[in-house]
Amino acid sequence: MMKKYSRTAKYDNNWISENWMGPHPLWLLEELCERLELEPGMKVLDMGCGKGITSVFLAKEFGVTVFANDLWISATDNLKRFEEAGVADKVFPIHAEAHALPYAEGFFDVAISIDSYHYYGADESYFPGVYSKLVKPGGQFGIVVPGLTREFEKGYPDTLEEYWDPELFTFHSKDWWRHLWEKTGIVEITACYDMEDPKEVWLPWAKWSKENLGFNDLEFLNADTDNDIALIVMSAIKK
Ligand SMILES: C[S@@+](CC[C@H](N)C(=O)[O-])C[C@H]1O[C@@H](n2cnc3c(N)ncnc32)[C@H](O)[C@@H]1O
Repeated sequence: MMKKYSRTAKYDNNWISENWMGPHPLWLLEELCERLELEPGMKVLDMGCGKGITSVFLAKEFGVTVFANDLWISATDNLKRFEEAGVADKVFPIHAEAHALPYAEGFFDVAISIDSYHYYGADESYFPGVYSKLVKPGGQFGIVVPGLTREFEKGYPDTLEEYWDPELFTFHSKDWWRHLWEKTGIVEITACYDMEDPKEVWLPWAKWSKENLGFNDLEFLNADTDNDIALIVMSAIKK
């Protein structure tokens, strides 16, 4: 039986599926939030927020101020969504690429990223050179990324060869992600694990995106007969 996400249950399913861009962002975020300490008034970066439903959730659930940063989705589109959700006083849409962020060093109490960090953060220099600087000492980081249950010699599991494309080489194991941050000496890792039932978590998006966008996530999940696909949660505190 899949875990219940009680905070997410309060949100309209149509609103979620009109705006999600990958495996249920609110389930991933709710899972991550169990590993973070969020208090009203904290400044939170939602990195790669897409259409910003995670940013709305953070503001509504925890009373934090959110900088909803994305590349593919315009700030103007996101502002409309934040106004409609009644959180435009707490959630600020920002259009910026991950290597050209407009924030002062140490500005954020917390930086989170849902199904996005692997696009830029699998690069060894990104965390020490860019991302870690955004948060103040004692501040928190949290990511959820799609990945693998273990690393493979040739980079991908046999069963998934047919579906593998170059972008998927950013899929790694939890130990790989932990090492990437831990070796910098900048943070202490507070959690790093595979979510339970990753396919169940991924499935609603896989079905919806097949029907509505013609994506092949469903075939990809079905081809994973050895259960190598993971959804990885990692949190850390800046020393
Ligand atoms: C799969 S979508 C997930 C969006 C959202 N978090 C969600 O779960 O619905 C990945 C997001 O990462 C963002 N992204 C990818 N590469 C980026 C980059 N180089 N700089 C900033 N954002 C990036 C994209 O704009 C996109 O919205």
